[in-house]
Amino acid sequence: MRTLFIGVMSGTSLDGVDAVLVDTAEGFHCLAHVAVPMPQSLRQDFLRLNQSGPHELHLAALSANSLVALYTQAVQSLLRSTQHKPEEIAAIGAHGQTVRHQPQMHDGVGYTLQLNNPALLAEQTGISVVADFRSRDVAAGGQGAPLVPAFHQAVFGHIEDTVAVLNIGGMSNISILQTDHVLGFDCGPGNVLMDLWCHQHLGQHYDHLGQWAASGKVSQALLTRFLLDPFFQAPPPKSTGRDLFHADWLQAHLSAVPELPAADVQATLAALTVQSCAQEVLRHAPTAKQLLVCGGGAYNLQLMSLLSQALPGVQVASTETQGLPPLQVEAAAFAWLARQTLLNLPGNLPAVTGASGPRVLGAIYPA
Ligand SMILES: Nc1ncnc2c1ncn2[C@@H]1O[C@H](COP(=O)(O)OP(=O)(O)OP(=O)(O)O)[C@@H](O)[C@H]1O
Ligand SMILES: [Mg+2]
Repeated sequence: MRTLFIGVMSGTSLDGVDAVLVDTAEGFHCLAHVAVPMPQSLRQDFLRLNQSGPHELHLAALSANSLVALYTQAVQSLLRSTQHKPEEIAAIGAHGQTVRHQPQMHDGVGYTLQLNNPALLAEQTGISVVADFRSRDVAAGGQGAPLVPAFHQAVFGHIEDTVAVLNIGGMSNISILQTDHVLGFDCGPGNVLMDLWCHQHLGQHYDHLGQWAASGKVSQALLTRFLLDPFFQAPPPKSTGRDLFHADWLQAHLSAVPELPAADVQATLAALTVQSCAQEVLRHAPTAKQLLVCGGGAYNLQLMSLLSQALPGVQVASTETQGLPPLQVEAAAFAWLARQTLLNLPGNLPAVTGASGPRVLGAIYPA
């Protein structure tokens, strides 16, 4: 089998598309990375599609096509920079854009919805595409998320002792890698609420390096209120998304405390991200010596510094120290998952997602 794979990821932050070209011939090596920003109009459309609205099916289909135009641009840029031809690539693992995530409904199996048009991506790139990775796990009773722990185990599992890998993207999720088993689940809102607040008050998509959060003072009253949300106390398996952590969630909590300066709210949201992750490390990986951080949150110096403070005795470092830069990890995971699919191997870990068993994930759209 060919050993080159492409992974294409656009996460809940709606910041853009990260794509990597990897070689799996011996181990796992990232040959190239490209980031394509998401145009503002498409970001708005995806945000709108997180709730029901007029013409949503039409808008969803057209947004999926626009997303695939970005995916195609990313794939072509990777091929150009590495001088590879489409026929040399075994497959593209294309995650799609999550707009709804309700894996369990009170009356039975729910759904998770990633907008995508893998047929169009295969047509435009001439490369086979693997897509829709999450539905099969949900069909088997799982959360459909997180799917990255199996990949984290494959690339970081060689490290001695218990290692925790924390992805701080739109949401945050953790993988706890122990010699005999892997645990993984979503911890809560990673950057999504900080991004929202920052956009509302500074007009910027994110708080560069966490400087604004660092300028504010944490409100213990607000932080305590935030942490009372049952999601933070729930045991794994658990996963979440914008369905829970959205503007109204934040507003409801803010309305319940005396008005705070905007920078203090940002500081408290940063503290929420850190506390929600740190408390899970303390609960589930008390012996961890290392916390490897990936996702855009690894560039937020305030988050990194608060994590170190919250976890004395744990070395907090970017995944870059292990050779995989923070914004490449999720995309690399979907390249790895596409390979699993072509090899007819499971991509989920039932102990992580809660599925009734290991499953081969995704659907293949041949070139
Ligand atoms: N230099 C930086 N300083 C502070 N925050 C940053 C910086 N760079 C990125 N970020 C944060 O990271 C976010 C993007 O992270 P990432 O791409 O990992 O998330 P994502 O697309 O939601 O992925 P996923 O949902 O798959 O984890 C941005 O929205 C921003 O909040
Ligand atoms: Mg992103």
